[in-house]
Amino acid sequence: MRLDTLLAQSSISRKDMKQALQRKAILVDNIPAQRLSQNVDTGLQQIRLDNQIIVAPAHKYFMLNKPRGWVSANSDTNKKTVLELISPKDFNEKLYCIGRLDRDTAGLLLITDNGPLGFQLLHPQYHVNKTYYVEVNGFLDEQAIFEFQKGVRFLDGTLCKPAQLRIHSATFDFSSASVTISEGKFHQVKKMFLSVGVKVTYLKRTQFGEFHLDNSLQEGQYRPLNPEELKKIKNYLEKNR
Ligand code: URA
Repeated sequence: MRLDTLLAQSSISRKDMKQALQRKAILVDNIPAQRLSQNVDTGLQQIRLDNQIIVAPAHKYFMLNKPRGWVSANSDTNKKTVLELISPKDFNEKLYCIGRLDRDTAGLLLITDNGPLGFQLLHPQYHVNKTYYVEVNGFLDEQAIFEFQKGVRFLDGTLCKPAQLRIHSATFDFSSASVTISEGKFHQVKKMFLSVGVKVTYLKRTQFGEFHLDNSLQEGQYRPLNPEELKKIKNYLEKNR
Protein backbone atom coordinates (compact mmCIF):
# COMPACT_ATOMS: atom_id res chain seq x y z
CA MET A 1 0.00 0.00 0.00
CA ARG A 2 1.04 3.61 -0.27
CA LEU A 3 3.20 4.83 2.59
CA ASP A 4 0.74 7.65 3.38
CA THR A 5 -2.14 5.15 3.59
CA LEU A 6 -0.12 3.02 6.01
CA LEU A 7 0.75 6.02 8.20
CA ALA A 8 -2.83 7.30 8.13
CA GLN A 9 -3.93 3.89 9.44
CA SER A 10 -1.68 4.56 12.44
CA SER A 11 -3.50 7.88 12.94
CA ILE A 12 -0.58 10.02 11.70
CA SER A 13 -1.87 13.30 10.27
CA ARG A 14 -0.95 14.40 6.75
CA LYS A 15 0.94 17.38 8.16
CA ASP A 16 3.01 15.20 10.51
CA MET A 17 3.77 12.76 7.66
CA LYS A 18 5.07 15.56 5.45
CA GLN A 19 7.23 16.96 8.23
CA ALA A 20 8.58 13.51 9.09
CA LEU A 21 9.40 12.93 5.43
CA GLN A 22 11.36 16.18 5.29
CA ARG A 23 13.20 15.33 8.52
CA LYS A 24 14.04 11.95 6.96
CA ALA A 25 12.40 10.37 9.98
CA ILE A 26 10.44 7.79 7.97
CA LEU A 27 12.69 4.83 7.27
CA VAL A 28 11.91 1.92 4.95
CA ASP A 29 14.42 -0.83 5.71
CA ASN A 30 16.67 1.87 7.19
CA ILE A 31 16.55 4.06 4.08
CA PRO A 32 14.78 7.43 4.39
CA ALA A 33 11.55 7.44 2.37
CA GLN A 34 11.54 9.86 -0.56
CA ARG A 35 7.82 10.02 -1.30
CA LEU A 36 4.62 9.45 0.63
CA SER A 37 3.25 7.69 -2.45
CA GLN A 38 5.96 5.00 -2.19
CA ASN A 39 4.53 1.47 -2.29
CA VAL A 40 5.43 -0.41 0.90
CA ASP A 41 4.58 -3.69 2.61
CA THR A 42 5.13 -4.24 6.34
CA GLY A 43 5.39 -7.99 5.64
CA LEU A 44 8.41 -7.49 3.41
CA GLN A 45 9.91 -4.32 4.81
CA GLN A 46 10.43 -2.67 8.18
CA ILE A 47 8.83 0.77 8.30
CA ARG A 48 9.83 3.11 11.14
CA LEU A 49 8.69 6.58 12.05
CA ASP A 50 10.86 8.37 14.60
CA ASN A 51 12.32 4.99 15.44
CA GLN A 52 8.98 3.40 16.16
CA ILE A 53 8.09 0.36 14.05
CA ILE A 54 4.80 0.79 12.20
CA VAL A 55 2.77 -2.37 12.64
CA ALA A 56 0.17 -3.42 10.06
CA PRO A 57 -0.93 -6.67 8.43
CA ALA A 58 1.33 -7.87 5.61
CA HIS A 59 -0.01 -7.89 2.08
CA LYS A 60 -1.02 -11.14 0.42
CA TYR A 61 0.43 -12.43 -2.84
CA PHE A 62 -0.85 -15.55 -4.59
CA MET A 63 -0.03 -17.36 -7.82
CA LEU A 64 -3.08 -18.89 -9.53
CA ASN A 65 -3.27 -21.22 -12.49
CA LYS A 66 -6.39 -19.72 -14.04
CA PRO A 67 -8.77 -22.30 -15.47
CA ARG A 68 -10.45 -21.66 -18.82
CA GLY A 69 -14.05 -20.50 -18.48
CA TRP A 70 -13.45 -18.17 -15.53
CA VAL A 71 -13.16 -14.39 -15.81
CA SER A 72 -10.27 -12.47 -14.28
CA ALA A 73 -12.39 -9.38 -13.51
CA ASN A 74 -12.96 -8.76 -9.82
CA SER A 75 -16.70 -9.15 -10.15
CA ASP A 76 -19.12 -10.25 -12.81
CA THR A 77 -22.83 -10.69 -12.32
CA ASN A 78 -23.19 -13.71 -14.62
CA LYS A 79 -19.85 -15.45 -14.81
CA LYS A 80 -17.52 -17.22 -12.41
CA THR A 81 -14.63 -14.96 -11.36
CA VAL A 82 -11.21 -16.29 -10.42
CA LEU A 83 -11.46 -14.60 -7.02
CA GLU A 84 -14.13 -17.18 -6.19
CA LEU A 85 -11.32 -19.75 -6.32
CA ILE A 86 -9.64 -18.14 -3.30
CA SER A 87 -10.61 -19.97 -0.12
CA PRO A 88 -12.34 -17.97 2.68
CA LYS A 89 -9.24 -18.25 4.90
CA ASP A 90 -7.15 -16.39 2.30
CA PHE A 91 -9.83 -14.07 0.94
CA ASN A 92 -10.23 -10.38 1.63
CA GLU A 93 -12.19 -7.68 -0.21
CA LYS A 94 -9.05 -5.95 -1.47
CA LEU A 95 -7.73 -8.89 -3.48
CA TYR A 96 -7.53 -8.35 -7.23
CA CYS A 97 -5.78 -9.86 -10.27
CA ILE A 98 -2.71 -8.16 -11.67
CA GLY A 99 -3.66 -7.94 -15.33
CA ARG A 100 -6.39 -9.72 -17.21
CA LEU A 101 -6.59 -12.94 -19.14
CA ASP A 102 -9.45 -13.70 -21.52
CA ARG A 103 -12.15 -16.02 -20.24
CA ASP A 104 -10.88 -18.85 -22.47
CA THR A 105 -7.21 -18.31 -21.55
CA ALA A 106 -5.54 -20.41 -18.85
CA GLY A 107 -2.40 -19.91 -16.82
CA LEU A 108 -0.47 -17.60 -14.60
CA LEU A 109 -2.26 -14.86 -12.71
CA LEU A 110 -0.85 -12.98 -9.73
CA ILE A 111 -3.40 -12.00 -7.12
CA THR A 112 -2.71 -9.51 -4.36
CA ASP A 113 -4.25 -6.98 -2.01
CA ASN A 114 -1.32 -4.58 -2.54
CA GLY A 115 -3.30 -1.92 -4.41
CA PRO A 116 -0.59 0.09 -6.22
CA LEU A 117 1.43 -2.96 -7.30
CA GLY A 118 -0.77 -3.94 -10.24
CA PHE A 119 -0.83 -0.44 -11.65
CA GLN A 120 2.96 -0.23 -11.35
CA LEU A 121 3.68 -3.65 -12.86
CA LEU A 122 1.29 -3.09 -15.76
CA HIS A 123 2.53 0.40 -16.54
CA PRO A 124 3.99 0.43 -20.09
CA GLN A 125 7.10 2.14 -18.68
CA TYR A 126 8.20 -1.14 -17.04
CA HIS A 127 7.75 -3.36 -20.12
CA VAL A 128 6.94 -6.44 -18.08
CA ASN A 129 7.32 -9.37 -20.49
CA LYS A 130 4.60 -11.98 -20.69
CA THR A 131 5.08 -15.42 -22.21
CA TYR A 132 2.26 -17.60 -23.51
CA TYR A 133 2.10 -21.19 -24.71
CA VAL A 134 -0.08 -21.21 -27.83
CA GLU A 135 -1.75 -23.80 -30.05
CA VAL A 136 -3.05 -22.71 -33.46
CA ASN A 137 -5.05 -24.30 -36.28
CA GLY A 138 -2.44 -23.94 -39.03
CA PHE A 139 1.18 -23.95 -40.06
CA LEU A 140 3.73 -21.66 -38.38
CA ASP A 141 7.03 -21.04 -40.13
CA GLU A 142 10.12 -18.83 -40.21
CA GLN A 143 8.09 -16.09 -41.86
CA ALA A 144 5.85 -15.89 -38.77
CA ILE A 145 8.95 -15.65 -36.54
CA PHE A 146 10.20 -12.82 -38.73
CA GLU A 147 6.82 -11.01 -38.69
CA PHE A 148 6.66 -11.23 -34.88
CA GLN A 149 10.26 -9.98 -34.58
CA LYS A 150 9.51 -7.05 -36.84
CA GLY A 151 6.29 -6.14 -35.02
CA VAL A 152 3.00 -7.59 -36.18
CA ARG A 153 0.37 -5.29 -37.67
CA PHE A 154 -3.19 -6.23 -36.67
CA LEU A 155 -5.80 -6.47 -39.41
CA ASP A 156 -7.14 -3.07 -38.19
CA GLY A 157 -3.72 -1.46 -38.73
CA THR A 158 -2.48 -1.35 -35.11
CA LEU A 159 1.26 -2.02 -34.91
CA CYS A 160 2.62 -4.21 -32.10
CA LYS A 161 6.06 -4.00 -30.52
CA PRO A 162 8.51 -6.72 -31.56
CA ALA A 163 7.72 -10.11 -30.02
CA GLN A 164 9.63 -13.33 -29.79
CA LEU A 165 8.05 -16.44 -31.32
CA ARG A 166 9.47 -19.93 -30.69
CA ILE A 167 7.85 -22.72 -32.68
CA HIS A 168 7.64 -26.10 -30.90
CA SER A 169 5.86 -28.12 -33.60
CA ALA A 170 4.23 -27.34 -36.93
CA THR A 171 1.92 -29.28 -39.29
CA PHE A 172 -0.55 -27.93 -41.86
CA ASP A 173 -3.50 -27.89 -39.42
CA PHE A 174 -1.81 -27.67 -35.99
CA SER A 175 1.19 -25.84 -34.56
CA SER A 176 2.35 -25.15 -31.03
CA ALA A 177 4.62 -22.32 -29.98
CA SER A 178 5.57 -19.90 -27.24
CA VAL A 179 5.37 -16.16 -27.67
CA THR A 180 6.80 -13.41 -25.50
CA ILE A 181 5.25 -9.95 -25.67
CA SER A 182 5.92 -6.76 -23.73
CA GLU A 183 2.53 -5.08 -24.18
CA GLY A 184 -1.00 -5.80 -23.05
CA LYS A 185 -3.30 -4.90 -25.92
CA PHE A 186 -6.82 -6.31 -25.88
CA HIS A 187 -6.78 -9.93 -27.19
CA GLN A 188 -3.21 -9.22 -28.24
CA VAL A 189 -1.88 -12.74 -28.75
CA LYS A 190 -4.99 -13.97 -30.57
CA LYS A 191 -4.92 -10.97 -32.89
CA MET A 192 -1.18 -11.36 -33.55
CA PHE A 193 -1.66 -14.93 -34.74
CA LEU A 194 -4.71 -13.96 -36.81
CA SER A 195 -2.47 -11.42 -38.53
CA VAL A 196 -0.16 -14.21 -39.67
CA GLY A 197 -3.11 -16.29 -40.87
CA VAL A 198 -3.84 -18.77 -38.07
CA LYS A 199 -6.38 -18.95 -35.25
CA VAL A 200 -5.43 -19.58 -31.61
CA THR A 201 -7.18 -22.69 -30.30
CA TYR A 202 -5.48 -22.84 -26.88
CA LEU A 203 -3.73 -20.10 -24.91
CA LYS A 204 -1.96 -20.33 -21.57
CA ARG A 205 0.21 -17.74 -19.85
CA THR A 206 3.38 -19.33 -18.51
CA GLN A 207 5.38 -16.30 -17.41
CA PHE A 208 4.67 -12.80 -16.15
CA GLY A 209 7.79 -10.69 -15.66
CA GLU A 210 10.10 -12.66 -13.37
CA PHE A 211 7.30 -15.01 -12.27
CA HIS A 212 6.97 -18.46 -13.83
CA LEU A 213 3.83 -20.56 -13.63
CA ASP A 214 4.34 -23.31 -11.05
CA ASN A 215 3.73 -26.49 -13.05
CA SER A 216 2.57 -28.33 -9.94
CA LEU A 217 -0.54 -26.09 -9.83
CA GLN A 218 -3.50 -27.72 -11.58
CA GLU A 219 -5.91 -25.34 -13.36
CA GLY A 220 -7.94 -23.65 -10.62
CA GLN A 221 -5.31 -24.15 -7.93
CA TYR A 222 -3.32 -21.36 -6.29
CA ARG A 223 -0.65 -20.94 -3.65
CA PRO A 224 1.00 -18.08 -1.76
CA LEU A 225 4.17 -16.77 -3.40
CA ASN A 226 7.21 -18.60 -2.01
CA PRO A 227 10.13 -16.80 -0.29
CA GLU A 228 12.11 -16.53 -3.53
CA GLU A 229 9.13 -14.96 -5.33
CA LEU A 230 8.43 -12.63 -2.40
CA LYS A 231 12.03 -11.46 -2.68
CA LYS A 232 11.26 -10.43 -6.25
CA ILE A 233 8.28 -8.39 -5.02
CA LYS A 234 10.47 -6.81 -2.36
CA ASN A 235 13.16 -6.00 -4.96
CA TYR A 236 10.48 -4.48 -7.09
CA LEU A 237 9.25 -2.28 -4.20
CA GLU A 238 12.85 -1.21 -3.55
CA LYS A 239 13.56 -0.45 -7.21
CA ASN A 240 10.49 1.76 -7.42
CA ARG A 241 10.94 3.85 -4.29
N1 URA B 1 -3.68 -12.23 -25.40
C1 URA B 1 -4.91 -12.70 -25.69
O1 URA B 1 -5.34 -12.71 -26.85
N2 URA B 1 -5.65 -13.16 -24.67
C2 URA B 1 -5.21 -13.21 -23.39
O2 URA B 1 -5.93 -13.67 -22.51
C3 URA B 1 -3.93 -12.72 -23.12
C4 URA B 1 -3.17 -12.24 -24.15
